[in-house]
Amino acid sequence: MRILLVGSGGREHALAWKIARSPDCERLWTAPGNPGTAELGENVPIPATDLDRITAFAREQKVDLVVVGPEDPLAAGLVDRLQEAGIAAFGPSAAAAELEASKAFCKEILVRHRVPTASYRVYKDLNPAVSYLEGGARYPLVVKASGLAAGKGVVICEDAAAARRAVRAMLEDGVHGEAGRTVLIEEFLQGPEASAFALTDGRTIIPLETCQDHKQLLDGGRGPNTGGMGAISPNPTVSQRTRDAIERQILLPTVHGLNHEGRRFRGILFAGLKLTPAGPKVLEFNVRFGDPECQVLMMRLRSDLLPYLRACALGELEELEAPEWDLRPAVTVVLASGGYPGEYPKGIPIQGLDEIEQGEDLQVFQAGTTRDGDGRLVTAGGRVLAVTALGEDLPQARERAYAAADRIRFEGRTLRRDIGRAALSTLEGMA
Ligand SMILES: Nc1ncnc2c1ncn2[C@@H]1O[C@H](COP(=O)(O)OP(=O)(O)O)[C@@H](O)[C@H]1O
Ligand SMILES: [Mg+2]
Repeated sequence: MRILLVGSGGREHALAWKIARSPDCERLWTAPGNPGTAELGENVPIPATDLDRITAFAREQKVDLVVVGPEDPLAAGLVDRLQEAGIAAFGPSAAAAELEASKAFCKEILVRHRVPTASYRVYKDLNPAVSYLEGGARYPLVVKASGLAAGKGVVICEDAAAARRAVRAMLEDGVHGEAGRTVLIEEFLQGPEASAFALTDGRTIIPLETCQDHKQLLDGGRGPNTGGMGAISPNPTVSQRTRDAIERQILLPTVHGLNHEGRRFRGILFAGLKLTPAGPKVLEFNVRFGDPECQVLMMRLRSDLLPYLRACALGELEELEAPEWDLRPAVTVVLASGGYPGEYPKGIPIQGLDEIEQGEDLQVFQAGTTRDGDGRLVTAGGRVLAVTALGEDLPQARERAYAAADRIRFEGRTLRRDIGRAALSTLEGMA
């Protein structure tokens, strides 16, 4: 098959790495890709959101399957465009991708199909929102921009003053632009957080292995939220019983509900959850792989990924068996630029990557990297690399990932030292 992968982050490098190893992969292009994907196929200098040029390229090159990594082109309708052009694509239509692009729409779907989630109200105007915050509201509560806000649109508020500030910033000052012109005010849910991923063609679903990300910048879960500083798989805090509940009470009714409403979902469904005393409840849905969760999942996936992507795109998932997984745990540690998630410099030389022996058990996935005029690898983004390792057990996977991470040097390099440490304590507690 001739494959075009869309995106340029660590997630896409991990997908490219897995796809390139498929015996069915004849050719692989990545648009726009990064220096990591360039080693696995050919990079095409088209931005992920240039729907016209991506569609034209796929047609000219007789691409058999387009795999879309990030949410923006999905929400903009890339898969619809490709389908109109007769090109198979992995990822939801714009109508189905609204599940991530509009938190207000997501809530409507959840409520209509009785999927457990926090109770909520929606506001477009400041005055009624403020009356609620000063009247019947209970604290803490959560204020959310409805639209895509790159992970920066959620504020947890301890009291009415904080909530008023958050709502005013979104509705009046427009801090998130259009994305914040509609706000949700949500009940605060208690309990540990978990993510669940499933492949689906809109009828059949195949849940993937559990994983856990680490969103905050600093050890111990302190500091500002980031795109993700590391991940592990499996996630020992999610029991088999919880996995079954997530599949039955959350993933299946959501997929079938969307289907029922004429928004058939094909691709990766990613549920952000709280494991409350009353069972798992949805915080939000995303419509693509998480980054860096994708990196640990791809390392642990033993089966060929390509048949699953193709089957999701073509509506043939029912015909496939569940995939095989490496039983060993995987850990990924993100190396970020100094200053991230705020301002950070770019163009800083990266040293030591060539000396690392990469293979089945260790991969360094590239994200914010580029090559300078002399062909040297330099930083180009906030999250630069994701060092990913498998180990016989979690301590060994951590040891391998950190040993490799410590051989990679660039000025300002920022990483968390505790990826997987909380999970280790959970495992020790269970033993
Ligand atoms: N109802 C809620 N109760 C408790 N915490 C919440 C709630 N909604 C969101 N959060 C917290 O805020 C984070 C971000 O919210 P989420 O809905 O996942 O938005 P996004 O990922 O788009 O920023 C969650 O991971 C969770 O930690
Ligand atoms: Mg989230």
